[in-house]
Amino acid sequence: MKLFAPGLFALALAACAAAPQKPLVKNDTLYQRLGGAAGVEAVVDASLRQIHGDLRINLFFENTDLPDLRRLLIEQICAATGGPCTYTGRSMEEAHSGMNLTDRDFDIFVEDLVAAMTEVKVSPALQQEVLALFAPMRPQVVGQ
Ligand code: HEM
Repeated sequence: MKLFAPGLFALALAACAAAPQKPLVKNDTLYQRLGGAAGVEAVVDASLRQIHGDLRINLFFENTDLPDLRRLLIEQICAATGGPCTYTGRSMEEAHSGMNLTDRDFDIFVEDLVAAMTEVKVSPALQQEVLALFAPMRPQVVGQ
């Protein structure tokens, strides 16, 4: 009995060639699933709009350089979600030092972030993944 019929061998080779190659760039990161740079920028822009219109916390930002904050938030979220960015801002403790932020302030900030993500049509499942990245920062932000 012939083990390898030539036709079968050719078929096996063709199947190998057609098999999906391992991607060189990771394309299943949260960053990619949020829509890459444009997706992260949309989330940050919508969040800053929400915060700006939120009388409960917008006074904290009255002396803030908003274009700079926008750039740093984009970098931070891009890096934290597996995107090709490096966060160049201050540590969370340092950035929020002297503000004496409370748990309630933090909850309101998260509420605005959720409203922003809903506005730009981030799915509830992806929203949960983003919130899971932010939640551990609470002790670095509150009470500084
Ligand atoms: C997980 C939650 C938070 C994250 C990831 C975050 C992230 C950041 C980042 C990246 C910066 C810029 C850092 C830098 O200037 O080097 C920043 C600054 C700032 N954050 Fe937050 N933040 C959070 C929560 C909050 C909350 C709850 C408030 C107030 C309600 C707040 C108010 C501010 C203000 C006012 C600044 C600007 C400080 C300045 O002008 O020097 N942040 N935040």
